[in-house]
Amino acid sequence: MTIRTSIEKATKSVLGAISLQAEGERDILDTLQAEHDEVQELLEKLVKSDNGREQKALVAKIKSALVPHTKAEERVVYDAVLALKGADAKVEGNEGYIEHGLAGETLKKLDKLTSNTPQFKAAAKVLKELIDHHIKEEESNIWARVKDNFSGEQRAVMNRNFLLAKKKVKIG
Ligand SMILES: [Fe+2]
Ligand SMILES: [Fe+2]
Repeated sequence: MTIRTSIEKATKSVLGAISLQAEGERDILDTLQAEHDEVQELLEKLVKSDNGREQKALVAKIKSALVPHTKAEERVVYDAVLALKGADAKVEGNEGYIEHGLAGETLKKLDKLTSNTPQFKAAAKVLKELIDHHIKEEESNIWARVKDNFSGEQRAVMNRNFLLAKKKVKIG
């Protein structure tokens, strides 16, 4: 293959991938990855901040990113994993639900605390640790289940369902 044809081929496949995404054919795992990166960045900023106003603003941002993400993920990803055959998949699915619950409770607690106090900083640290741990396991165990059991086409359908489910979540 000449250099020119390989470049043409590569360009064609990149353009193909872009147009597929534009049609809403994105793999759910790509959407989840982008949302995980976003929330982990916000948590990193939160634990590093010494400014009460900034801390409050970051908590609000984390809440509006995390609550719809976890609820929609439960409906679309975790319920699909729980429906798979095998005890291990069911344990992993239940573990995810429990960790989402713990993160949600810690976030509620953090939201009520006065910012820039030792209590607030402790809760922020616990939330970050919980979420970092959860994301690490989710991206390895749960995503492996999703990749092994659902085709690219099914994952694109899951992506559309995930985006729709997110819109229905009340942040509270
Ligand atoms: Fe997630
Ligand atoms: Fe999750």
